[in-house]
Amino acid sequence: MSLAAVEASLALAAERGGDLTPAVYARLFARLPQMEAEFWRDRSGAIRGEMLARVFEVILDLAGPRAYAEQMIGTEYVTHDAYGIPRALFPVFFAVVAEAVEAACGDGWTPAMADGWAALLADIDAMLGKLAA
Ligand code: HEM
Repeated sequence: MSLAAVEASLALAAERGGDLTPAVYARLFARLPQMEAEFWRDRSGAIRGEMLARVFEVILDLAGPRAYAEQMIGTEYVTHDAYGIPRALFPVFFAVVAEAVEAACGDGWTPAMADGWAALLADIDAMLGKLAA
């Protein structure tokens, strides 16, 4: 998988789209409308922003050193059990992030970025399947 292409897509998305937080959660809530109410505590948007920042860390670790992503997701499974978030929604969130990054990149989105993200999402699915087992 190409870490460089995934990183480049994140940099370009940030440059063109600024903070991706609103776009990611708008996509999430369009796909899973019942999730919006789960963020009821998040009046300022700070929790959504913090969660997305952690998800980007997981993505960069998975695309690179793979030092802690698996452990971090295992931990988040448990904390999110307490929030009432089904574990099956984790891969959906990563896919939503990928789509928001692609949309923000616009015509700057390259085949290498598409390949890098496709490989990353496949890896995440494999890892989540293993964690769930
Ligand atoms: C690897 C994936 C994920 C990571 C690393 C992650 C990380 C986090 C973190 C760190 C927080 C707490 C933020 C704070 O209090 O400042 C949080 C809260 C939350 N997450 Fe996630 N999350 C992940 C996946 C998901 C998914 C898939 C959903 C639902 C679609 C979700 C829904 C929520 C909700 C509703 C809260 C707010 C809970 C509350 O305080 O009321 N998360 N997440």
